[in-house]
Amino acid sequence: MISDWINVADAEREGEAKLEQGPRDYFAGGAGDELTLRENVAAWGHWRLRPRVLNDVREVSTRTELLGKPAEMPVLVAPVAYQRLAHPEAETGMAKGAAAAGTAMCVSTLSTTRPAEVAAAAPGGRHWFQLYPFRDAGVTRALMDEAIDAGFEAILVTADAPPGGNRERDRRNRFALPRELGTPSLTAATGGERALTIEETFALMNHALTWDDVSDLASQCSIPVFVKGLVTAEDAALALEHGAAGVLVSNHGGRQLDRCLATADALPEVAETLEGRGTLLVDGGIRRGVDVATALTLGADAVLVGRPALWGLAAAGREGVAAVLGLLRAELELTLALCGCTSPAELTRAHVRRAPVPSVYSV
Ligand code: FNR
Ligand code: LAC
Repeated sequence: MISDWINVADAEREGEAKLEQGPRDYFAGGAGDELTLRENVAAWGHWRLRPRVLNDVREVSTRTELLGKPAEMPVLVAPVAYQRLAHPEAETGMAKGAAAAGTAMCVSTLSTTRPAEVAAAAPGGRHWFQLYPFRDAGVTRALMDEAIDAGFEAILVTADAPPGGNRERDRRNRFALPRELGTPSLTAATGGERALTIEETFALMNHALTWDDVSDLASQCSIPVFVKGLVTAEDAALALEHGAAGVLVSNHGGRQLDRCLATADALPEVAETLEGRGTLLVDGGIRRGVDVATALTLGADAVLVGRPALWGLAAAGREGVAAVLGLLRAELELTLALCGCTSPAELTRAHVRRAPVPSVYSV
């Protein structure tokens, strides 16, 4: 029950218990040996905070700005495909939960609900759209326009897929989407008559994407375009050179390239290269308010959570989503206070250092 949740791991247990093995493994799993999946979580714990004391922390707020507009906290909901597999409320439940928590939700290209329906379900909410570019540029354009027409605020172009990663759990389970589960915007854009399988969907995507495509998208798009799914300083610099408004340091939650650098380890080099230019976002393995705080000390403007929000949805629909986001917000608020900060913006690089001897302690 939500009222028993003390932390995100409680929501994880309850959400996973509600799912059958196929969907559970699709959501929880990663690529290959799942080293990156695990390391994304562990790597945040290799940083140590340097709290400052005696700073009057009676009034602490997690409030921040995202794209120039206020948000209750620097934590957004990451794009996750096929949310109807998790709960019948699907993306509308996710949107309502995010809106209730006062933050933005990113809707996947592979959403089981169309952007306009998501927006209508959470009228006060903020919505961003994750774009997979397709070989047929008309399909890509149609998807992007549909989100813009529905009032979405930003486009996240995913750069670390296709091709899809080696998801061995799904192969072992012979996981296939239920026949009735569709991605209606994609079906409309491709003019298809039946729902596509995951494999068919990846096959339609543009595997030839280059930085010039980012320039084209950014110049044709009336809302900010981010590049999602890079982990190097070099690619972050290229993203800004090619017109991106910012970058999302991500390895797709360990679902694409196994042994990819953990995002907590990638973030510092990206922050150093950007030097405050563009908006810097990060996702992967964020499970605690201290993880959020660590990301902010390392230069992120905000973080995204994928699986945590999904577990909330699976466990208890919109209320589960709001509860998970509420737990992260409360933990962040406490962390800020204990670091001697009254707002997320007060966290700086001076508030963090690498753990002195990370391998010696068994914690
Ligand atoms: C994803 N992610 C993802 N990313 C994306 O750009 N488009 C998508 O459709 C999806 N779909 C998707 C499905 C599932 C089941 C998961 C778990 C993830 C990646 C997602 O946006 C994000 O990068 C990670 O989930 C972040 O890691 P955590 O928070 O799950 O550890
Ligand atoms: C995934 C794709 C759909 O991670 O992004 O499953």
